[in-house]
Amino acid sequence: MQTVKSLQMLRTALAQLRADGATIALVPTMGALHEGHLTLVRRARESADHVVASIFVNPKQFGANEDLDAYPRQLAEDAAMLAAAGCALLWAPDAETMYPQGYATNISVAGVSDGLCGAARPGHFDGVATVVCKLFNQVQPDTAFFGEKDFQQLAVIRTMARDLDLAFPHVSAITGVPTVREADGLAMSSRNRYLSPADRTAAAALPRAMKAAIAAIEGGADVPGTLAQLQTDVLAGGFSNIDYAELADARSLAPLKQLNQAPARLLIAARIGGTRLIDNMGVNPRI
Ligand code: PAF
Repeated sequence: MQTVKSLQMLRTALAQLRADGATIALVPTMGALHEGHLTLVRRARESADHVVASIFVNPKQFGANEDLDAYPRQLAEDAAMLAAAGCALLWAPDAETMYPQGYATNISVAGVSDGLCGAARPGHFDGVATVVCKLFNQVQPDTAFFGEKDFQQLAVIRTMARDLDLAFPHVSAITGVPTVREADGLAMSSRNRYLSPADRTAAAALPRAMKAAIAAIEGGADVPGTLAQLQTDVLAGGFSNIDYAELADARSLAPLKQLNQAPARLLIAARIGGTRLIDNMGVNPRI
């Protein structure tokens, strides 16, 4: 696997990969890779001739008081994992290459960016949409793979790709891959490594409480009451506070006060020991 850090090298390497009409799948990441990312690479390999991964810790998607400086950076280790998973090319630009002096453009996706993490982290999804649009333009992939763990992010990216007529054959070329979980149910995340051993054990309360809430909602329980109980259970499990716990329409992410006939999603963000964890799970529609 080749690692390239300049746009010129990227273009040369992509031209070689595309020889004879080969197809390319893109897996954008911020590094600090885990099994969830490697699952994306494996899925991508099934869909295209070559997989290109990117590693870029995007400053535009971190707020002033967030963990940009502390975010784990381990390029050599990540590159070895990507190569072993079958990735052909690693695009690893630095901040000056991605946003050169005088960079002035921002992409903002209204509506789907507004609630949930968008409300708790103002500007976050503008940063995500901007960098993913640039990555799509730089690599011009045939398909792209993202984890459903960041469910709202996936909705923002799909909306952006549709609205800006990005070069994909169809917006369905953007694939969401189900969340990969630890044995105790905790969703894999690069941020899990911030957790102390005690908090890591306690963090399993989050998916456990979500599953109980989903069983209750699917069984006909009142939604606002179940969400209140979910918050109580998560706090009792050792979390210090909850940014949001919502049932939302799985496509529009509009909040739901009751389950209807469309697929829904339970989404939550909560803090434990100073680390903010997010998770989401599907809720079956009432038929
Ligand atoms: O999910 C991530 O790792 C990032 O938000 C992404 C999509 C690579 C954009 O920086």
